[in-house]
Amino acid sequence: MTELEQFSAPGAEWWRTAVIYQIYPRSFADANGDGIGDLPGITSRLDALSELGVDAMWLSPFMPSPQKDAGYDVSDYRGVDPLFGTLDDFDAMLAAAHERGIRVIVDLVPNHSSDQHPWFQEALKAAPGSRERARYIFRDGKGVDGELPPNNWESVFGGGMWTRVTEADGTPGQWYLHIFDSSQPDFDWTNQEVLEEFRGVLRFWLDRGVDGFRVDVAHGLIKKAGLPDYTPSEGADSMGGDQEDVPYWGQPGVHEIYRDWHAVLAEYDGDRALCAEAWLPTLDKIALWVRPGEMDQAFNFNYLMTPWNAGELRDVIRDSLDAFGAVGAPSTWVLSNHDVVRHASRLALTWDNPQGDGIGPRDEPKPDRAVGLSRARAATTVMLSLPGSAYLYQGEELGLPEAMEIPDEFRQDPSWFRTNGERYGRDGCRVPLPWTATAPAYGFNGTGASWLPQPAEWAEYARDAEEASDTSTLALYKTLLRLRAERGLGSGSIVWEDLGDDAVAFRRGDLHVAANLGEAPLELPAGASVVVRSEPFSGTALPPDSAAWYTLA
Ligand code: GLC
Ligand code: CA
Repeated sequence: MTELEQFSAPGAEWWRTAVIYQIYPRSFADANGDGIGDLPGITSRLDALSELGVDAMWLSPFMPSPQKDAGYDVSDYRGVDPLFGTLDDFDAMLAAAHERGIRVIVDLVPNHSSDQHPWFQEALKAAPGSRERARYIFRDGKGVDGELPPNNWESVFGGGMWTRVTEADGTPGQWYLHIFDSSQPDFDWTNQEVLEEFRGVLRFWLDRGVDGFRVDVAHGLIKKAGLPDYTPSEGADSMGGDQEDVPYWGQPGVHEIYRDWHAVLAEYDGDRALCAEAWLPTLDKIALWVRPGEMDQAFNFNYLMTPWNAGELRDVIRDSLDAFGAVGAPSTWVLSNHDVVRHASRLALTWDNPQGDGIGPRDEPKPDRAVGLSRARAATTVMLSLPGSAYLYQGEELGLPEAMEIPDEFRQDPSWFRTNGERYGRDGCRVPLPWTATAPAYGFNGTGASWLPQPAEWAEYARDAEEASDTSTLALYKTLLRLRAERGLGSGSIVWEDLGDDAVAFRRGDLHVAANLGEAPLELPAGASVVVRSEPFSGTALPPDSAAWYTLA
């Protein structure tokens, strides 16, 4: 490797360097004890986030919803589901976060609504061709009596992408399109009424003081004209992350929508941010989303999907900084979220990453917990040294593994139901957090209720247990985040260094970073003085699956 210096795109906006913590509201903290986390629960636990040292938090959806897809099926975009509290609870949480200097990003779900949204209910009652139906994607079926779906598209959650309705007069009628569950009908984003409605939704939350939006399925809003048949290749990622030219992913028309939204956000003071959830095959394509005047950030799923391999990790870091830098945007970094297998388990898999399909009781061999945790800690030690913005998912700061033994009767992910249990789905990364080792539900609430059962071995990951240890994963995250802030690692350049094929090594100013992805110990250069290490070790030989930040005398 030649010595190469790469710069993170400069700029003063907070989101360029921010560490953003994802809260999954139903599993963070439960104030009223019904087994489902809520907004007052979040407010009561904000000190934990201040102590961790994050800059912002992103909340998965808490708007009114039948909860068919854990809130990603919204029936009212301007409210709070009673399950999570009230708008007053939201305002109180926002104020409490801002008091602590923590910015708040909310999740916006524009691709589809719930089938219980008033617009969809009106569309069902209205006639084919009506204004009400034109807000969604209704089409006549094929076949003699329209008994076949309009095309062959398959839902991300399994099964077909179309559901047939019964018309007001009781006859079998048109079909509507849903990329996800049948309870999540897709809007027609070529319809100006939809555009105008969402401008209003953005303003509603901006007026309340939110700092930005994470935009759900940002790559799905526009479908290719004529809705042509499409058959993905064998084993393709259903979100499109490895697929070219999918007629419902990443169509060029989406960019106009985000330019429009950018203008709405620009009406507001401060730096309000838009972050895209867009699964696209190449970093160059993702970078198109963060050109000036569009989104500010896009999740770097290519980074998330990189296996534990030094060459691939070096490549994806280098390519990310290049691709995002070319359009003046910071790279983002992410290892876990509510849709994928937690990285403390994923990085120790000896078989293909099942991504959103999850890991369950019948999958063997299970990833080794100790190996997974070491790799996860090393991966995070690398990630938090990189320039740009990093996303953390609740519980990774505790080193939580995927919950792999959830009994069938508790499962809630729609893909479990839509595939008749063939895919486990994402429940394993959504289990409520352990706060207190010895309390009921590990302190998630005071009653012991929990919407998904917490594994028995989670006591050792409880926050209070980890707070009491200076070698815990929590202690590591706190140190990394403190040093990242003190040394301004969120911006600036990285200079690549060569410590061998099995290493990822670079320099950030006078701070050196090295990770050992090989099987033998990796000797750090003479004169190395370790500042932080992902594993307890002494001396200057990095054990396999570990990483360190160090200075040279
Ligand atoms: C996004 C969300 C996921 C949800 C889907 C449908 O991928 O992250 O949780 O199921 O969109 O809204
Ligand atoms: Ca609750």
